[in-house]
Amino acid sequence: MMAERESGRGLKRAVVTGASSGIGQASVQALVAKGWQVVGLARREDRLRQLAEDLGGAFTYQVCDVTDEDSAQSAVDAVLKAGPVKALVNCAGGAFGKDPVATSDLDDWRGMYELNVLGTLRMIQKFMPALKKSEGTVLIISSTAGIEPYEGGGGYCASKAAERVMARILRLEMIGQPIRVIDIAPGLVHTDEFSLKRFGGDAAKAEAVYAGVPDPLTAEDIAGCVTWALEQPDTVDIDQIVVRPRAEGSYTKVYRKS
Ligand SMILES: NC(=O)c1ccc[n+]([C@@H]2O[C@H](COP(=O)([O-])OP(=O)(O)OC[C@H]3O[C@@H](n4cnc5c(N)ncnc54)[C@H](OP(=O)(O)O)[C@@H]3O)[C@@H](O)[C@H]2O)c1
Repeated sequence: MMAERESGRGLKRAVVTGASSGIGQASVQALVAKGWQVVGLARREDRLRQLAEDLGGAFTYQVCDVTDEDSAQSAVDAVLKAGPVKALVNCAGGAFGKDPVATSDLDDWRGMYELNVLGTLRMIQKFMPALKKSEGTVLIISSTAGIEPYEGGGGYCASKAAERVMARILRLEMIGQPIRVIDIAPGLVHTDEFSLKRFGGDAAKAEAVYAGVPDPLTAEDIAGCVTWALEQPDTVDIDQIVVRPRAEGSYTKVYRKS
C-alpha cells in the first residue's frame, strides 16, 4: 500500500486548467464520474464554486490565471499542499481574432502566446517534479489548428502548433523517466464560449462557425478522450489523438446541410 502511494500507482488526483467552461469543465465532470479527485483551475471563481456545489467533495478548485506567475505559483502551492498529483490536464486556452496575418493585431497574437503556449509551459514546469514522483501524466489539449494552418488563423494556429511541438519535445525529453505526455488535438467542438470569445462577443459570427454542421463534437466527446487516455496503464503513452466530427475532413472540408 505504502509503495503504491509512493509510486503513484493507483493514485487518481488530477489538475484541470480551464475548468470553468467547455472542454475543461466537461473533463472535470467526466473524471469525477470515473472516481478521480479533481482540482479545477481558472479565473472565474463563481463558475468554479458552482461546479464544486454540483460535484461535491471530489472537486476542489483554485482561482488561477495561468498567464500570471504569482497567481499560478500560489495555485500550484495550494494544490500540492493538499496532496500528490497524478495528472495535469491543460485545457486553459483560446483564440482571439480571425484576421489575416498582414493586418492582425499584435496584442491578439501576444494574448494567444501568453495563454496557449507560455501558460501551458508554466503549469507543466511547476507540476513536473510532483508528476515525476507519482509516475504522472501531462496532457495538453492542442487543436487540429496546430496541424493544418488556415487563413485567418495566424496567431491561433501558430500557438497551437507550438503546443503540439512542446508536447512532442517534452515526450522525447522524458524518455526513461516516469512521465507520460499526451497531446489531444480536437477539430470542430461546439462549446458555448470558444468562438464567442474569438469574435469578441459577436454571437452571429460565433454561431456561423457551426452552422449546418450536423454533429460538431461536444465538450463531452473530448472529455471522453481525456479520461480514456488518462486511464490507460502508466506504461502506455497515448502520444497523440486527433479527433474530429465525422462531418469534418479538414478545416476547409466540412459538410454543412444547406
Ligand atoms: N472549441 C473548439 O472548437 C476547440 C477545438 C480544438 C481545441 N480547443 C482548445 O480546447 C481548449 C478549451 O477550449 P473550449 O472550447 O473549452 O473553450 P472555453 O469554453 O472558452 O474554455 C477556455 C477555458 O480556459 C480558461 N482560461 C482562459 N484564460 C485563462 C487564464 N489566463 N488562466 C486560466 N484559465 C484561463 C477559461 O476560464 P476563465 O475565463 O474562468 O479563466 C475557460 O475555462 C482551448 O485550449 C482551445 O484552444 C477548442
